Amino acid sequence: MTDTGHAANADAVGGGATARDGAVDRAAESDPEVLAGHTATSAEVVAELTGVTKEYPGGVTALGGVDLTVTAGELLAIVGPSGSGKSTLLHILGTLDRPTAGTVAIAGHTVGDLSDRQVSALRARHIGFVFQSFHLVPAATALDNVTEGLRYSGLARAERRRRGRAALERVGLADRVGHRPHALSGGQQQRVAIARAVAGRPKLLLADEPTGALDSASGKAVMELLHELNADGATIAVITHDRELAESLPRQVRILDGRVVEDTRRRVPGGAR
Ligand SMILES: Nc1ncnc2c1ncn2[C@@H]1O[C@H](COP(=O)(O)OP(=O)(O)OP(=O)(O)O)[C@@H](O)[C@H]1O
Ligand SMILES: [Mg+2]
Repeated sequence: MTDTGHAANADAVGGGATARDGAVDRAAESDPEVLAGHTATSAEVVAELTGVTKEYPGGVTALGGVDLTVTAGELLAIVGPSGSGKSTLLHILGTLDRPTAGTVAIAGHTVGDLSDRQVSALRARHIGFVFQSFHLVPAATALDNVTEGLRYSGLARAERRRRGRAALERVGLADRVGHRPHALSGGQQQRVAIARAVAGRPKLLLADEPTGALDSASGKAVMELLHELNADGATIAVITHDRELAESLPRQVRILDGRVVEDTRRRVPGGAR
């Protein structure tokens, strides 16, 4: 999928409006954060997959009955060999794709109960994406790339730009807001993509091989940034082939042939909360 980031944005057309009415809002009545009046605890479930199966035409079972719960404040690695189902899992977690069987709940909303429009609204409100190949708009400045991600947020333009600048500052690019992607290094482009993903303060940040296209120093800087964002409270799932990187994270979910074969948590100095 080369155009996922863009599709995610395009899908969100009208999302700001649907988020305020219809089933998403009714579902919000059972949203723990809404009920608790923003006093949600660290045990708040951000995403829950139950018995998730994904079959493709031609008999490919990309996922075969995955149960996975992600709670607020987690930083987890999704690891496994090529073709094991990691990206499929991330797409389903991110509501870009629906499972063939099983249920997906995001921030208390059962995705299967929602229309495509409502799912787009849910995604725009709660989920940020980062991809290996950045998916920035080449003709747009760093700031415009970031504010594009807020277009369906319902925020006024001035507020979107204020948040965009703050997000770029957060990723260390305050002095690059007017640069277009071609004038940025790969690591800087990925930091713009991360700024775009977090500018809307999503409940869940999903990253598919975010360091895969970067040299090791830039990759390390991107991972440090993800650690910092997590320390600030972001809930993050990262797909990675990098064993060392995976082992530096507080939780590792190992996928093999579409199944979770290992799910381990450990204490990481300065990491897990
Ligand atoms: N649109 C599709 N149609 C048919 N089969 C697909 C489709 N997308 C993925 N698959 C298959 O599903 C399986 C899981 O693919 P997925 O992309 O999730 O693997 P992955 O673990 O992310 O691999 P990689 O590490 O190479 O990115 C693979 O066998 C793949 O060929
Ligand atoms: Mg993949």
